[in-house]
Amino acid sequence: MKPKIVSVLGARPQFVKAAVLSRIIRLHNQIQEVIVHTGQHYDTQMSAVFFEEMQIPKPDYFLDINGLSHGAMTGQMLEKIEEVLLKEKPQAVVVYGDTNSTLAGALAASKLGIPLAHVEAGLRSFNMNMPEEINRILTDRISDLLLCPTDKALKNLKMEGFDHFTTRVIKTGDIMKNAVRFYSEYAEQNAKVYQELKLPENQFVLVTIHRQENTDNPEKLKAIFSALDSIQDKMPVILPLHPRTKKALANYSINTNVRLIEPVGYFDMLMLLKNCKMVITDSGGLQKEAFFNSKPVIVTRDETEWVELVEHGFAKIVGSDKTKILHAFDHYLSNKLDFDQDLYGHEVGQKIHDEILKLLT
Ligand code: UD1
Repeated sequence: MKPKIVSVLGARPQFVKAAVLSRIIRLHNQIQEVIVHTGQHYDTQMSAVFFEEMQIPKPDYFLDINGLSHGAMTGQMLEKIEEVLLKEKPQAVVVYGDTNSTLAGALAASKLGIPLAHVEAGLRSFNMNMPEEINRILTDRISDLLLCPTDKALKNLKMEGFDHFTTRVIKTGDIMKNAVRFYSEYAEQNAKVYQELKLPENQFVLVTIHRQENTDNPEKLKAIFSALDSIQDKMPVILPLHPRTKKALANYSINTNVRLIEPVGYFDMLMLLKNCKMVITDSGGLQKEAFFNSKPVIVTRDETEWVELVEHGFAKIVGSDKTKILHAFDHYLSNKLDFDQDLYGHEVGQKIHDEILKLLT
């Protein structure tokens, strides 16, 4: 009988990462994968569209836990995932990234003594006010196998003393790179939004804003949108709107001239990335997806986990400072960059698959 893993997913960026690994798992057919979707993201455009486009197997369990406070959400997920693990009795649990679904899956596994693998381990923002930072630190500490995307991630874990723990720590590279490479061709054929919007090729700015540190702070959100409105006067700005940001704009009565559209699926996002001039975002994943598509990125946060992008000049950290956002925009308009740099590894999904297989045998 094949060894069994339970993969815990819940939020948009996890679907992208899991799509790569699930495909490789099915290809090799050495591992049985049971998929648990916590329900953290549940709108069609935030969830179902990813499963369809990227052909992720239908979740075996959908827990439908969402729209709650952090504690209630994580607590309910922990309880329900534990029930699944008790029933399925897997040889390992796999979690991705840094969301509440990640932490709940990690806690459920470790409390039952089931070996735990963390994909995208070792990243740190060193900002303890971010819920994601707490989720990462705790998940890494209780994992048995840490699959790190970068050298910096390895260093972070070393600094936290992981050399002295029994945890297996491996640098695999970044799994999102596989996704961009693999799905780009499908995106060319199937994406519609870029064409429908009739955007000028290489002459628009792609923006996403959803981080709690921005959406929950009216001053920051106003400053960011004021900067985006100024950019819009020079070049079209297109912004697929996360539900959290939609609520915040309404709550703070922020009006904007930028073009707001519904959240887009993975294929549409890839095509928008491919054809834009530059990206402005507070997302972690999109920073690298911009790089994989040879686009500079302006990061509306005070720090990033992907420091190598900043070090090589592909990203600028601007917080919510309007002047800095506009300077960075002008900088990237007038400076050409050489994106031919290998920052995130190769054959990452395969390496992760092989490491998980070792954990099981
Ligand atoms: C979560 C992750 C964040 C990740 C992001 C990707 C945590 C702590 N944060 O943030 O790291 O970058 O996902 O998008 O886990 N909502 C809907 N429909 C949906 C999904 C969410 O209306 O399909 C609403 C929720 O009800 C809630 C808000 O959007 O009111 C925020 O959703 P939530 O899952 O709590 O966190 P995200 O901001 O998406």
